[in-house]
Amino acid sequence: MSGTVHLERDRGVGFLVIDNPPVNAGSADVRRALLARIAEVEADATLLAGVLIGAGNSFVAGSDLREFDLPLSPPQLPQVIAALESSAKPWVAALHGAALGGGYELALGCDARIAAAKTEVGLPECGLGIIPGAGGTQKLPRLVGKARAIALICVGTRVKAAEALSLGMIDALAAADLKVEAASLALSLAKDPQGSKRRVIERAPPDDPEAEIEAAVTKATAQGRGRPHILSAIACIRSVGKIPAAEGLATERAEFQRLRILPEAKALRHIFFAERAAGRETGTKVAPLAVRRIGVVGAGTMGAGIALAALQSRLPAVIVDSDPAALERARQRIAGEIDRSQKAGRMSNAVADAARQGLVLSQDMSALSDCDLIIEAVVEDLAVKRQVFRAIEQVARPDALLATNTSYLDIDAIAGATSSPDRVIGLHFFSPANVMKLLEVVAGTASSDQAVATGLAVARALGKQPVRAGNAFGFIGNRIYAAYRAACEFMLEDGALPQEVDAALQGFGFAMGPFAVADLSGLDIAWRMRQQTTATRDPRARYVSIPDRLCEAGRLGRKTGAGYYLYPEGKPVPDPVVDAIVIAASAEKGTARQPLDAETIRRRALAAIVNEAGLVLEEGVARSAGDVDVVLVNGYGFPRWTGGPLHWAGTQDATQLQADCAAAARAAGPDRPIADLAGLGLWPDAG
Ligand code: NAI
Repeated sequence: MSGTVHLERDRGVGFLVIDNPPVNAGSADVRRALLARIAEVEADATLLAGVLIGAGNSFVAGSDLREFDLPLSPPQLPQVIAALESSAKPWVAALHGAALGGGYELALGCDARIAAAKTEVGLPECGLGIIPGAGGTQKLPRLVGKARAIALICVGTRVKAAEALSLGMIDALAAADLKVEAASLALSLAKDPQGSKRRVIERAPPDDPEAEIEAAVTKATAQGRGRPHILSAIACIRSVGKIPAAEGLATERAEFQRLRILPEAKALRHIFFAERAAGRETGTKVAPLAVRRIGVVGAGTMGAGIALAALQSRLPAVIVDSDPAALERARQRIAGEIDRSQKAGRMSNAVADAARQGLVLSQDMSALSDCDLIIEAVVEDLAVKRQVFRAIEQVARPDALLATNTSYLDIDAIAGATSSPDRVIGLHFFSPANVMKLLEVVAGTASSDQAVATGLAVARALGKQPVRAGNAFGFIGNRIYAAYRAACEFMLEDGALPQEVDAALQGFGFAMGPFAVADLSGLDIAWRMRQQTTATRDPRARYVSIPDRLCEAGRLGRKTGAGYYLYPEGKPVPDPVVDAIVIAASAEKGTARQPLDAETIRRRALAAIVNEAGLVLEEGVARSAGDVDVVLVNGYGFPRWTGGPLHWAGTQDATQLQADCAAAARAAGPDRPIADLAGLGLWPDAG
């Protein structure tokens, strides 16, 4: 039994208390109980009105997604909502916590909605590859207009109570006691001589100018990457007022049912569950240390971004750098970002003021002495990092957690510079650190459970998506991305041009192609790393010299106005000079160039990703296939709607993909390892 609904009677009002901990998710049991209790209220002559309310911390935070892979058992939500709408008595939704998805649709089936101050309402279904299926697309436009409904539904925005009130998504805010105020609202409707029912579905939508609707459609289609469910949501919203309400509701329901069992919606549910599971501690339960003040060493790109992420989350931050000019640049960048966020309304005045006051910049390491967590973000050089950790240890509190933001270096080698390696972990942020959600939490050999647990807790406190990674070159993400980028470089030598590779992979759904990404990050970082690792490189591994040639020509990417592309007006434009460098590189190796079509490019690039992801999993660097998917989707622009590379792998032909992985390994050089995909359980249905 998952969930129930209690009926409480109080002075003429029947309260239906929805009780399905922890968030009162809508389940078959809840729907069945609701239907029965609505009928009870309807039949009870002593009750004048009904109130829907959630037990515990929330109203209904959404439907139980685990039901979505199966045929939905009756009664379904539209039937429950129809019972509210056809009831002769008025119904009020009393909202607190979250009223999302099916929960908000339940509220839209009531005659009025009142919410406690901290409530969030919204229809987030589009984030899961479906559309609201119980009236959301038909009713929200009637309250807020079509243009606004398109924006809210396609993005899946969660709207805070005060804004929801001003938009008309709710009718009242509870001043003090939600239950009491909901009851009096319900009774006032019951006694209204004009009649007690205020059905949303019967209202005419506001008359939005067509141009506004068009603009909303264009924006939502672009933001939603033109995915099928986005187009479906838009079509449903546009139909409001143009066709009979019953027809609109039936079409919406049919679309919801069609979309929810498509591979794309399944993939999005997979990534939703994988994100929630990632970074959860299994094994021993240790309480994390409280982190109230964060220290950062290194005021460069990453250090300033990490400090900003802390300040945005109301945590004071101290930045130490040996270079006063770097400190000044960080100060200006952070101040500018706080100003912009405040002006744009992304940061409240209170948080912005606290952020300004909470920032300390210093050249003196002792400024870190009262920090609970100190994150090192100096240059990527082991000797420098070891020296910095020794200096940190001199000033840090003995119980402070110490972390490195290294991209590739060995955490154990860094931790070994200190006398307490158990309190050292990796916290690998992504650039820009104040924006990117992903955070790899890397455990070294000596890292204590408490250090790791604190790292995960800090990640969540900063609003990040944590994923646990093992200590190995490039951790999860950079290691897989390196294999992907190498595979794309091989294709340049074999016959493709950068713009062809980028177009093919953008066609698959990557936000950007690998060469446009390289230009954006700067080609010099990898160049420097290649120079540092020349001595240790496997001489038999295939080496593509094209990026070196570009760097030698001063083409370091966007920042120099040229890399794989030219940037005459800020946008990448293919350059014949690059084509010539690419063709010359093939000739140098004696390779006869063969054109590669988009399908071949995609197959080769994705096989390289899947092969390396499989190895990362086999070696235990990632703890689950879901963790790999979360990393690639949140940190590397892998299309979310595929569910990430390993979920995607499970939707492909196993024999073919295994052969492609073997080819990808062969292309990289002799004796390159091949992942055993069959052993990874990627095809759960294969039997
Ligand atoms: P950066 O070059 O922008 O900044 C490094 C800063 O460290 C400079 O301000 C420098 O003055 C300071 N510094 C150097 N030695 C120091 C010392 N002994 N004491 C105090 N300060 C010192 O470098 P960036 O890009 O911010 O990278 C920092 C770290 O983050 C590196 O380990 C890098 O691999 C890693 N990382 C970089 C990413 C990126 O996209 N840039 C992404 C993720 C990690």
